[in-house]
Amino acid sequence: RVLAGRALDLSGRHVVVSAGGTREAIDPVRFIGNRSSGLQGYALARTAAARGARVTLVAANVALPDPAGVTVVGVESALQLREAVLEAAAGADAVVMAAAVADFRPAARSESKIKKTAAEPEAIHLVKNPDILAELGERRREGGKPCPAVIVGFAAETDDVLANGRAKLARKGCDLLVVNQVGENLAFGTPDNAAVVLAADGEPVEIPRGPKEELADVVWDLVAARLP
Ligand code: CTP
Ligand code: CA
Repeated sequence: RVLAGRALDLSGRHVVVSAGGTREAIDPVRFIGNRSSGLQGYALARTAAARGARVTLVAANVALPDPAGVTVVGVESALQLREAVLEAAAGADAVVMAAAVADFRPAARSESKIKKTAAEPEAIHLVKNPDILAELGERRREGGKPCPAVIVGFAAETDDVLANGRAKLARKGCDLLVVNQVGENLAFGTPDNAAVVLAADGEPVEIPRGPKEELADVVWDLVAARLP
């Protein structure tokens, strides 16, 4: 792989990257969250900008400095992330959903802090969040509105990783699904990652363990090859 060959191959393109993990409020001080650090999404945003793209980074609860030359939109919940991603995606060439979006949120957010009482606590009733990636795929299938040419999802799988990944790729209607290997010092909060990229139109591409920038560059190679 020749890095120089990639230089500015995304210039004139607008890409949207989501990063981090959503927080679903229980009350004014508590939330349901996840362990996503945002490192992989930020690496994707940085590498796309380095290759000449205009980048909108929708960041959910990330404690990282804004990458230079990137438009950062901060969000907290899955519903806010959905709004921001759908708005930015309307005019974009590609969307990469690296954010860990909560599948569920509390049905109601308590306006006041929930107090401890002598009784056992109430259960927190959950409802499903919208599936943003699937929605992007659906919109594109339906046609009509301007839609990104390339849609990329991320997934962390255990058990039958490839079979689960294949099923998810089909279900979401995306073009590429980056399936992370969850394991020792991989994925969450670490600088390294390893993955298999499944494609709707071709063979899987294995990305060996390495820095998240390297994985990001391979993802952009695969995206660039699919841009009209
Ligand atoms: N995703 C999304 N909206 C959601 C949940 C997930 O856009 N409400 C996106 C993620 O950003 C990721 C991809 O979908 O790019 C796969 O997320 P994952 O949690 O693996 O998929 P789910 O369909 O939620 O399946 P699972 O039951 O395995 O969690
Ligand atoms: Ca999920």
